[in-house]
Amino acid sequence: MSARSALPVIAVAAVSALLAGCTSTKSSGSGGGDISLVNSGKLTTCTHLPYPPFQSKQGKKIVGFDVDMVDLVASALDVKQEIVDTPFEGIQSGEDLNTNQCDVAAAGMTITDVREKNLDFSAPYFEATQALLTTKGKPYKTLAGLKGKKLAVQQGTTGESYAQKHAKGVKLVQFEDLALLLTAVKTGQTDAGINDNGVLYDYVKDNADTTVTAEFDTGEQYGIAVRTGNDALRKKIDAVLKDARADGSYDRIYKKWFGTAPKTDAR
Ligand code: ARG
Repeated sequence: MSARSALPVIAVAAVSALLAGCTSTKSSGSGGGDISLVNSGKLTTCTHLPYPPFQSKQGKKIVGFDVDMVDLVASALDVKQEIVDTPFEGIQSGEDLNTNQCDVAAAGMTITDVREKNLDFSAPYFEATQALLTTKGKPYKTLAGLKGKKLAVQQGTTGESYAQKHAKGVKLVQFEDLALLLTAVKTGQTDAGINDNGVLYDYVKDNADTTVTAEFDTGEQYGIAVRTGNDALRKKIDAVLKDARADGSYDRIYKKWFGTAPKTDAR
């Protein structure tokens, strides 16, 4: 670790030490302002399940890459993370944050200009692109090739809007969550499905009858969202993400969920 990258780690350790023992809902954040939490003593996260390996249920526990990222933030605030599972539409529209259902939204959610109007994003923490899932043996490798066929899309996602723009003459079939979309493709209810590359590659690992036939280079980046104007919490998240990259915890968590070290540009 370079001397330059070691500095923020020390700074955060000092802030964490200050925060330890602080029991009220207000914690003094590194951004200067106070961080107030919707539920006292907890960092409440809105997410939409299942979206492995970012968030999914393992038994009774909700686990995943995003869960581990937000756990780092929670522990820097000296509170525990509590996760609320709620439809993606209310997350991406900013409604859940604006009605104080949660402090943060972490849902493999892509930073977009439209969403930025209704909520605020942290610095990017993950790169993604849209990809195409089919069952093996099907010829679909492009959206043009799906003309007259059925393409599964997930409601309210960037995959859905990409398909609406680029899949001309393709019948879009909307699903409320990723699991329903994946099952539709696997069982032949639709000819293909579009979603983020990370979740699709995770699925084909355990479903050898399915395959990812294309990536569309949409150049997406995931961000953790806070309600508009919650700069204290947003800055805290950014500081935690920065430290996680510097101190190796980002790489450790990446490896835990993706099995490999991150490409330097993938974070
Ligand atoms: N990255 C895509 C988007 O932001 C899909 C996210 C879906 N996430 C989820 N947890 N269901 O639109």
